[in-house]
Amino acid sequence: MTSETPDTTFTRQLFGEDFAWGVSTAALQTEGSCDADGKSPSIWDTFTAKKGRVLNGDTPVHACRFYEDYKRDIDLVKQLNIPNFRFSIAWTRILPNGTGEINQAGIAHYNKVINYCLEVGVEPWLTIYHWDLPQVLEDKGGWTNRESITWFTEFATVCAKSFGDRVKHWMVMNEPAVFSGAGYFFGIHAPGRTGLRNFLPVVHHVVLSIVAGAKVLRKLLPQAILGTTFSCSHIEPYNDKPRNVAAAKRADALINRLFIEPILGLGYPTTEISSLKGIFKYFKPGDEDNLSFDFDFIGLQNYTREIVKYSFFTPYIGARLVKAENRNVELTTMKWEVYPQSVYEILKKFNAYKQIKKIIITENGAAFPDEFANGEINDTKRLNYIQAALKQLLKAKNEGCKVSGYFVWTLTDNFEWAEGFHPRFGLVHIDFETQKRTIKASGHWYRNFLG
Ligand code: NOJ
Repeated sequence: MTSETPDTTFTRQLFGEDFAWGVSTAALQTEGSCDADGKSPSIWDTFTAKKGRVLNGDTPVHACRFYEDYKRDIDLVKQLNIPNFRFSIAWTRILPNGTGEINQAGIAHYNKVINYCLEVGVEPWLTIYHWDLPQVLEDKGGWTNRESITWFTEFATVCAKSFGDRVKHWMVMNEPAVFSGAGYFFGIHAPGRTGLRNFLPVVHHVVLSIVAGAKVLRKLLPQAILGTTFSCSHIEPYNDKPRNVAAAKRADALINRLFIEPILGLGYPTTEISSLKGIFKYFKPGDEDNLSFDFDFIGLQNYTREIVKYSFFTPYIGARLVKAENRNVELTTMKWEVYPQSVYEILKKFNAYKQIKKIIITENGAAFPDEFANGEINDTKRLNYIQAALKQLLKAKNEGCKVSGYFVWTLTDNFEWAEGFHPRFGLVHIDFETQKRTIKASGHWYRNFLG
C-alpha cells in the first residue's frame, strides 16, 4: 500500500468512538530557548555542550523554537485534526534550583501553552519528566541519590497544583529504561555516567519516584487520568538454540520488564538476571510497599523488534542484540528494523498482565530521510509504517487487547538526543535554518484519516 493508493476501507471508525488519537513531543527536543526566562541548564544542556557527545555536534539550543512560538505548532496539531497533544514540562523552567523557589515565568509559560491548546480545542496530555533533569540536581548525584525521590515529588506537586485544574491526562515519566540505561549505564545519553554501580541505584530510585509522583498526583487531583510510559520491543531469539532462547529471555527482562513489573506489584525480574540482585543493596525499610501503583493506563512506546543471541562477552546479561544492519532487513535512519508487527506482539505481551487496566500506545513512528520534490515531501515509507503499525494495533484490539489510544512520534522533526537533528521523525518537516514547516504526506494522511 502506498500513498498513491489509499486504502479507503481503513478508517478511524474501526477503532471505536472512545479511542484516543494523538501526537507526542518532549520539551528538550522541541523548545529551544535553553536559558530564557530564568531556566537553568538541564543535564542535556550540559551534555550536548561537550564535544563528541552528539552527532555532528548538534545542540538543542534552538531546536524547533517551540518555546518562542508554541502557537505555530499547536495550530498545526489542530490543522492535522489531532485531538490530543502530548508534551512535557521542563523541570528547569519551573524549579531552576531543582527544588525550592518556583520560577513564575516558567509556570506562566506552560499555562499559556495549555490554555492555547484548550482554546483551539486540543486536549493537552502532560508528561512530567522526559529526561531533562536539572544539572544542579545531577551535581548532587542525580538519580543515583536517594533524595531524587523527594526532589521529583516536589516537582510533580508543583505541576499538579499549577496545571491540574485544566490538564486531565498525565504521564509521570517517560521511558525510564532508556534514560537510566543510556544515561547511567552506557553513558551515551546525559548525564554520561556508566556502570552497574550507577545503574542499579538509579533504577530503584526511579521506580520509587514514579510511584511517589503518581501518589501525589492522585491525592491532589483525584479526577485526573494517570499513566506513565515505557519503552518496549518485541524480542526474538536468533534461532531456537537453547542458549539463544535463554539469552532472549534475559534481554526481555531487562528491556521490557525491569520497570513495569515492580510497578505492577511483581517485583524486579531478578530470577532471570542475577546481577540485578545488587539492587537490594539500595532498599530501605518500607520500600517493598512503595514500588507499585495502580495506574489508569500504561503508555507503551514501540518502534522495532530486537533479535537476541547468547554472548559470553557481554557482562551481567550474557546476551547481545544482533544489529539490524547485519540482518539484511529494511532500516530506518536510526538503523532500527522496519517491523510494524512489533506493535501487535507487544500489545499481546503486555495485555497478558492482568494488573494493567488500559494500554495506550503513547509513541510509535519512524525516522526516514525526507526529500523535497516540487515543494512536497512524499514520505511514503513513514506513511506506510504508521498505517501498518495501526493495522497491527487494530488486529490486537479486535482480538481483545485493552488498547485504547495511539500517539504518533512526532509532530515535527526535532532534536533526537545523541543523534542530533539527523533523524527525522516528524509528520511535519522543519527546515532548521529558516524554521519553515512543511506538512509531509504522512501528516496529510493522518489528517484525512482523523477527518
Ligand atoms: C522515545 C523517546 O521518548 C523520544 O524522546 C525519542 O525521540 C523517540 N523514542 C525516538 O527515538
